[in-house]
Amino acid sequence: TWTMVNIVEEQIERIREQIGDRRAICGLSGGVDSAVAAALVQRAIGDQLTCVFVDHGLLRKGEAEQVERDFVAATGVSLHVVDAQQRFLEALAGVSDPEEKRKIIGREFIRVFEAAEIEVIGEAAEHGEKVEFLVQGTLYPDVVESGGGAGTSNIKSHHNVGGLPEDLEFSLVEPLRTLFKDEVRLVGEQLGLPAEIVWRHPFPGPGLGIRIVGEVTHDRLETLREADAIAREELTRAGLDRDIWQFPVVLLADVRSVGVQGDGRTYGHPVVLRPVTSEDAMTADWARLPYDVIETISTRITNEVREINRVTIDVTSKPPGTIEWE
Ligand code: XMP
Repeated sequence: TWTMVNIVEEQIERIREQIGDRRAICGLSGGVDSAVAAALVQRAIGDQLTCVFVDHGLLRKGEAEQVERDFVAATGVSLHVVDAQQRFLEALAGVSDPEEKRKIIGREFIRVFEAAEIEVIGEAAEHGEKVEFLVQGTLYPDVVESGGGAGTSNIKSHHNVGGLPEDLEFSLVEPLRTLFKDEVRLVGEQLGLPAEIVWRHPFPGPGLGIRIVGEVTHDRLETLREADAIAREELTRAGLDRDIWQFPVVLLADVRSVGVQGDGRTYGHPVVLRPVTSEDAMTADWARLPYDVIETISTRITNEVREINRVTIDVTSKPPGTIEWE
């Protein structure tokens, strides 16, 4: 629309004014906010922007590829990918407690991201250039929530964990600071980003790590990724993506259930389908998905995903339940 064209043009102009001919860095999470912020800055300053994507192995099926291939194809952004899957698995080994998992994932993420920042800074320095700006996908509600004033303060990269150079300090570029989520999606469409990214449901930072009840392992992640992909595919096929706020699929890895599959008795795991409707995630209701959609998801998951022999659906609203199981 005309308004979106205006917003995009105006932001591009502002970004150019702020950054000039200097360099910026941006972390991509796979989510819509960081993707749209990066795409805007890319439009404004081209190759002066470097994006960093930490693949922690906790994303859903196809999402890392969507960043590495489709986002790059749509924007022409220069992307620095860190494959940290093994590192995250090792850090999470033996851990079942949800808050402990969150702490580990958050800590490792910051460490890996900062190491990547240092590499990007080093590469720029080889060309006599300095990375001075950090792009963030902060939205208007985030600004209000944090009581944010006129913005663009200098921040230390994250909270500066362990032994990093003192001068790892950036000015913030926050091109989405005045926008609400639905406007960000429209800007994303305007910039030609793939629909899978623009219309992605909210997804927690710790990713599938908090959708495995029990220890996170490579095999469990693979199992959950397959089941989750089927649920998403069938929701999309039914045309219900935009009616649903989020659709977590949770693997009860510490629970076993008996089943009969093929020619024998199995002793596998249940998954829980957790489709919810919500306005802002503060409260939520369990979504009344059509029975035929639930049936297709259940049949496909138990037929196609080894290890899963039972599909259940969560009919708890929030409160008293939360959206996630952990
Ligand atoms: P709950 O489960 O508390 O979730 O109803 C509310 C919203 O927050 C998301 N969520 C998280 N997001 N880090 C995040 O970035 C987290 O640790 C986390 N835990 C929950 C959840 O997906 C929902 O949108």
